[in-house]
Amino acid sequence: MFLKQSTGLIVITGLLCNLCPQVEAAVEKTGKLVFAHVMFRHGDRTPIDPYPNDPYRTPTAWDGVDWGQLTNDGKRQHYELGQWLRNRYRNLVNETYDRNEVYIRSTDVERTLQSALANLAGFYPPKGHDVWLEELPWQPIPVHTVPEKMDLLLASKKACPAYEYALKKKRHTDEYRELNKKFKNLYDYLSKYSGKKINSLEGVQMIYSCLLIESIHNKTLPKWTQSVYPGDMPWISAKSFSTYCSTPELARLKAGPILREILHRFRNKTEDSLKPNRSLWIYSAHDTTVANLLNILGLFDPPHSPPFAACVMMEMRLIDNQPYISVYYKNTTAEPEAMNIPNCGPSCPLDKMFTLYEDLLPTDWESECKLPLMTMSYEEVDNSSSSSSIVAVTVIVTSCLALLLVLLLAYAGITYQRRRHYQELYTYHGSTIRTQLI
Ligand SMILES: *[C@@H]1O[C@H](CO)[C@@H](O)[C@H](O)[C@H]1NC(C)=O
Ligand SMILES: *[C@@H]1O[C@H](CO)[C@@H](O)[C@H](O)[C@H]1NC(C)=O
Ligand SMILES: *[C@@H]1O[C@H](CO)[C@@H](O)[C@H](O)[C@H]1NC(C)=O
Ligand SMILES: *[C@@H]1O[C@H](CO)[C@@H](O)[C@H](O)[C@H]1NC(C)=O
Ligand SMILES: *[C@@H]1O[C@H](CO)[C@@H](O)[C@H](O)[C@H]1NC(C)=O
Repeated sequence: MFLKQSTGLIVITGLLCNLCPQVEAAVEKTGKLVFAHVMFRHGDRTPIDPYPNDPYRTPTAWDGVDWGQLTNDGKRQHYELGQWLRNRYRNLVNETYDRNEVYIRSTDVERTLQSALANLAGFYPPKGHDVWLEELPWQPIPVHTVPEKMDLLLASKKACPAYEYALKKKRHTDEYRELNKKFKNLYDYLSKYSGKKINSLEGVQMIYSCLLIESIHNKTLPKWTQSVYPGDMPWISAKSFSTYCSTPELARLKAGPILREILHRFRNKTEDSLKPNRSLWIYSAHDTTVANLLNILGLFDPPHSPPFAACVMMEMRLIDNQPYISVYYKNTTAEPEAMNIPNCGPSCPLDKMFTLYEDLLPTDWESECKLPLMTMSYEEVDNSSSSSSIVAVTVIVTSCLALLLVLLLAYAGITYQRRRHYQELYTYHGSTIRTQLI
């Protein structure tokens, strides 16, 4: 239907359009689609950091693909997701690329940038005037990015001391202490066999992610893993993902900026003030980003590790000219269904979205991220990570207090000396006070 040029692609088109009638019927029932925000995780990659005793810790085990990089499977996953999105949004954006209709932003990481490009190859195969090289059914589509350290929206790596502090506090609550106690044996076992010190849920999550990737790649896992993999690991990994936005404060500081941007852009669209007047926004990001967006929306239920190319869609439809928001999550090959937005349902008025999430949208993120120094207490600070900014702040606070104490003591000492001096002068030398003190 829309991929006429290549016979190879007609097959795919045919497959996709088996679904077309249902999709269209569903969309019609729920209103006219006018704007969508799409956020996906990158595709299949190699392990980011194989554990020290990993038998697959060699480049040859991964066809020479470097650590943490997108594999050919990952490229295909996104090419196919791009085709699926093209079908879903064929009435929203033109098949011909137009910068005024769509904006694509990726985190500044090779695998997300490549995923975005592979996805767009599926979404925007060149047609008509856009064909620029007969033998290449591909055209360059711009993908925007921001250095990670400055990216508070998507990578959410911009420094936020108040968030780091609140996260550390959360990880020291009774609930988390109990979990660490419960999984102590697993931590010890994993530390012993992996050759890497594991003492937290996040540590388990990282080993699990590596083993999961290796099993996806049909690699035989070492014998020692048999008693623990997967076992409790999927649960622990899911718990670890859910921690990042597990309180209103954490959610507000971590995922608040992106939710705020999306909701405000929806509103600007309804007010006809969006310039350019785009209809589709695509974000290429990570498992944590996808988990955090679902979590702040109250839709990360049950918690889980978002798989490769997992995709969240926030869509706005007009019903009787009023804007409604729906959230879809595609993490399998099945067609996604609208999720049940807490206290609102599968289709929620835009105004109601602002009311529901008001407390989670930061108005001045930068200043909210500043750490109120005097709230610091020593037991709350985990000294194990000496590089953390919290430790640095503690050192500064401690130094300041110490300096203050020294000054106070010095002042007290001088005052005492002077008093004694006065007394001595008064007592013994009477009339010579003035000359002595000047
Ligand atoms: C898509 O863009 C082309 C070229 O600008 C235009 O001729 C066509 O009408 C557009 N189609 C739709 C559905 O907007
Ligand atoms: C793993 O094996 C399955 C079943 O044989 C196969 O379908 C799949 O393509 C293999 N995956 C990889 C990455 O080799
Ligand atoms: C929405 O519009 C306001 C007012 O024009 C603008 O300041 C703001 O940046 C816009 N927000 C987004 C996300 O487009
Ligand atoms: C913006 O686009 C929408 C459709 O997405 C359209 O209804 C609206 O009239 C456009 N507004 C302007 C100012 O062009
Ligand atoms: C997909 O998401 C649903 C709903 O959030 C979840 O129950 C399920 O475990 C997830 N499956 C995968 C493979 O991620």
